[in-house]
Amino acid sequence: MDGHFVTVEHLRQYFPMGGFWGGRTYGRAVEDVSFHIDKGEALGLVGDSGCGKTTTARTLLRLYEPTGGRFVFDGTVIFDVDKKQYADMRPYRRRMQLIFQDPYASLNPRMKVGDIVGEAIDIHGFPSSVHSRKQERWERIVRLLTMVKLDESYANRYPHELSGGQRQRVGIARALSVQPDFLICDEPVSALDMSVQAQILELFLELQEKFGLTYLFISHDLSAVRQIADRVAVMREGRIVDMQE
Ligand SMILES: Nc1ncnc2c1ncn2[C@@H]1O[C@H](COP(=O)(O)OP(=O)(O)OP(=O)(O)O)[C@@H](O)[C@H]1O
Ligand SMILES: [Mg+2]
Repeated sequence: MDGHFVTVEHLRQYFPMGGFWGGRTYGRAVEDVSFHIDKGEALGLVGDSGCGKTTTARTLLRLYEPTGGRFVFDGTVIFDVDKKQYADMRPYRRRMQLIFQDPYASLNPRMKVGDIVGEAIDIHGFPSSVHSRKQERWERIVRLLTMVKLDESYANRYPHELSGGQRQRVGIARALSVQPDFLICDEPVSALDMSVQAQILELFLELQEKFGLTYLFISHDLSAVRQIADRVAVMREGRIVDMQE
């Protein structure tokens, strides 16, 4: 045990590419990425387009099978490719949540905001009677919307009726609904206007304070990352090339 909440060592992710004449070639998206994050800390991850930021995030969540490296989360080995050790991801799919750049693409356009936020609550379910369950569900949704500074009237709206900033707030409320402790935010403010970016960054800071959240905060914009990150890792061509304290 090294005591860090998040430890990533020598992460590697190669994508097989159909090679010419059947020969095998690989897209080396992530070559060698190591970092650690303490509980309640925010690590920024910056770098040019295509350097492997999103691939790093998705590999940690096991949305891709890692080619190499080791990831330890809160004392549990999530994967250790050398030792062929892989954790059952079920509890960790709840504890680690991904927040996307474009919440509109990830919000079901046919669902009302209240149901989008309530969906995960439904999956976890409540043991109480049907009547109080409905009431409890509604209160929970309102509480989550309030956390992201949306009043309860938003529960009955559809995503297309909202601004970009409001949609990102819904994306954040949905992520928070399962009470995660590690948020991986992949360019969460890049699609927003500057003034709205500042408000969403402010919200991330407030939520971190309130819930002791740990962040991996990905962006190509160093100035946005500086506002939230305690340290910043700089990535280039699949590697961490600098760590700014
Ligand atoms: N599923 C995939 N299959 C094959 N190659 C991929 C896949 N996903 C990403 N890549 C390649 O891996 C490299 C890293 O891509 P990635 O999306 O991780 O970069 P990024 O740093 O997130 O860029 P951006 O700032 O544009 O979001 C790129 O060359 C990309 O084309
Ligand atoms: Mg990306």
